[in-house]
Amino acid sequence: MSAQGPLLSVAGIEVMYSRLALVLRGLTLSVPRGGIVALLGANGAGKTTTMKAIANLLRSERGEVTKGAIHYDGARIDGLDPSDLARRGLSLVMEGRHAFPTLSVEDNLKVGAYSRSDGAVAESLERVYSTFPRLKERRHQPAGLLSGGEQQMCVIGRALMARPRMILLDEPSMGLAPLLVEEIFSMMQQLNAEAGVTFLLAEQNAAVALRYATYGYLVEGGRVVREGPAHALAADPEIRASYLGLDASAEADGASLAARRRPRWLS
Ligand SMILES: Nc1ncnc2c1ncn2[C@@H]1O[C@H](COP(=O)(O)OP(=O)(O)OP(=O)(O)O)[C@@H](O)[C@H]1O
Ligand SMILES: [Mg+2]
Repeated sequence: MSAQGPLLSVAGIEVMYSRLALVLRGLTLSVPRGGIVALLGANGAGKTTTMKAIANLLRSERGEVTKGAIHYDGARIDGLDPSDLARRGLSLVMEGRHAFPTLSVEDNLKVGAYSRSDGAVAESLERVYSTFPRLKERRHQPAGLLSGGEQQMCVIGRALMARPRMILLDEPSMGLAPLLVEEIFSMMQQLNAEAGVTFLLAEQNAAVALRYATYGYLVEGGRVVREGPAHALAADPEIRASYLGLDASAEADGASLAARRRPRWLS
């Protein structure tokens, strides 16, 4: 295993659904060890497809990587099943908060430890509870009764139970109030800083994502159309106007404007 080079690299992948729809068209990105990298783009740009290609979850949707290569920690991972990936420390938190609604919060978290054979599950549970104290308060409740933000914490907590080195986090802000979005993102930052977890973060909410990420890629039509350090992307006049919904004079509240405005390059 290579300790050099990026932790994850995606090189020129094409993804086709149902042998007909070419959705990713030569997408390339890399994530350094210890980085937080944002994958930005509007609805249908190909963010989730990229995440599923990395996590090898396309087959159940009749999707297929038809070109390119994916390396994680120096090894090719295309074709490995998700439990192999979990053992190597790569976890995916899917879009849409898929907690098991009838299981308790604690049982949801324990499901995340299935790939582990060591006996330190209780210790990990305590660590998750210290990151997300609200989950501890609600640990005996069915996860279906949690609020949207708490469910997001629950599925991130479940991913943490596998003790990942890297988490693919798909659209964590979706449907959450701004304060909760900040709470989720600052927890991601804390896990990155304190536990060294690397993140690839797919987000439509570019304004928030660029505040927490170190580097960003903008995806349009299944390709990267712009990339750079997060602060450079956030300062880019075209991105500010078309994507963040900000002009040079308006600094505040880019997130809500960005949600309402359609990027210019889609029209
Ligand atoms: N199972 C599927 N079969 C056929 N086409 C699909 C399938 N899943 C997604 N697509 C198409 O692939 C394209 C990219 O979708 P994807 O879900 O990756 O976008 P996204 O960037 O995650 O969008 P969003 O921000 O809305 O989550 C879209 O045009 C979508 O309609
Ligand atoms: Mg998506």
